[in-house]
Amino acid sequence: MTKKKLKQIFFPLINSFLFIFFISCGFGFDSPLSTFDAQGPVAQLQKDLFLFVFWLAVIVFFLVEGAILYASYKYRQKDEKLPAQIHGNTKLELMWTVLPSIIIAIIAVPTVMGIWKTQVMPDEDNSLIVDSIGHQWWFEFRYPQEEIVTANELHIPENKDVIVNIESQDVIHSFWIPKIAGKIDMVPNHQNKLWIKADNPGIYYGQCAEFCGIAHALMKFRVIVHTKEDFEKWKNDMRTPPVALNPGSEEDEGRKLFIGNCSMCHTHDSYKKAAYHKEIQNQNIRWEEWKKDKEYSAIVSAPNLTHFGDRLTIGAGLKENNLETLSSWIENPDNIKIGTRMKNHAAIYNSEDQFLTSNEIDQIAKYLLSLKPDKVNVITYTNNN
Ligand code: CUA
Repeated sequence: MTKKKLKQIFFPLINSFLFIFFISCGFGFDSPLSTFDAQGPVAQLQKDLFLFVFWLAVIVFFLVEGAILYASYKYRQKDEKLPAQIHGNTKLELMWTVLPSIIIAIIAVPTVMGIWKTQVMPDEDNSLIVDSIGHQWWFEFRYPQEEIVTANELHIPENKDVIVNIESQDVIHSFWIPKIAGKIDMVPNHQNKLWIKADNPGIYYGQCAEFCGIAHALMKFRVIVHTKEDFEKWKNDMRTPPVALNPGSEEDEGRKLFIGNCSMCHTHDSYKKAAYHKEIQNQNIRWEEWKKDKEYSAIVSAPNLTHFGDRLTIGAGLKENNLETLSSWIENPDNIKIGTRMKNHAAIYNSEDQFLTSNEIDQIAKYLLSLKPDKVNVITYTNNN
C-alpha cells in the first residue's frame, strides 16, 4: 500500500470517528441533555467512569488498528512464496487472552465500585423522599414526607440527598436527568430507587428514556434545584391558597368552566390540608376507571395542576407556559403533543354539545395562569441549565 493510499483510508476513518463522537455529545458538552456537564456527585461518578473506559478504549483502538495497518503493510504479499504459518502459536495465543483479561479486570474495579456507590441508598431520615410515577406521557411527583404533590417539575434543594422511588402506572418509562444522575426504568408494579443529589441551584432537563408509545420523545420534565431557603419557600407556597379572584372576572369565569369540564381528572387545590392522600386516592380511582374502559372512560389519570401559574412549562416540559401556548394546548392538545388521553377522553373534544368557544378556552387558560400562591415574594431562578 502506498503512503497516499494509507492517507486516503486513515484520515476519513479518524474524521468519521470524531464526527460520531461529537454528534453523540449533542454538539456541545453543556447542551441541556449532555452527560458531560455533570452537576451532581452521581452524574460526576458516571461521567468519570465513562471517560476512563473511553480513553482506555481509545488506546486499545489505536494499538490494535495500528498493528493491523503496520502488519498489512510490512507483510504484504511480495512474491509467490507462502508466508510463515503461525497458527497455534502459544505465545501469541497467551498474549491476546491475558492482555484483554487484564484490561477487563482494570475496568471492572471502578465499575463495581461505582455500582455499589450509586445503588446503596443514603440514610432515609436525612434524605428528601420523592415518589415519581410515570404516565403516558407525563411525570407525577409526590413528596410523602411533605405531603405535596405536583407534576412535570421536580423541585429539590441543592446539596441534599434525594431518594426517588420510581414506578409507572401504565407502561415502562425511564427516569433520566442527564446532568444530575443516571437513568433507571419506571416499571409498573415494581419500585426502583434512584439516589440523586444536585450541586448547584438551577433548572435542569429530564427526559423519558424508554420507548413508551407515540409521545415518548415528548415526555420531558424539569428539575428545579433551589437553595435551601428557596426550597422551604416553595414548600410553604405549595400549602398556600392561590390569589383570590374577582367575581365576574375572566379568570373567575374560567374557574367555573374548569370546575365543570376539567376538574374530574385535574386536581387544582392540593394546597389544602389532607389534600395529599385524597389526591393519591383520586388518581387511583381515575386509573381504575380508565383500565375498565380504555375507549370511553370519562376520567383518566392526569397531572395535578395546583399552582399551575407557577409552572415554567406545559405539556410535560414541551412549551413555555404562557397564555398563547396554554390556549393552543386546551384548544387541541394535538397542536403540541399527539396521543394524550385528555384529547381521547375529555368531553370537550368528543361531544359536540360540549365543545368550547375560543373565548371560553382563553378564560380557562387565564384561570390556570392565575393559580399562584397568594404572596408577594416570588422565587427567582438564577441560571438556566
Ligand atoms: Cu415515557 Cu418514553
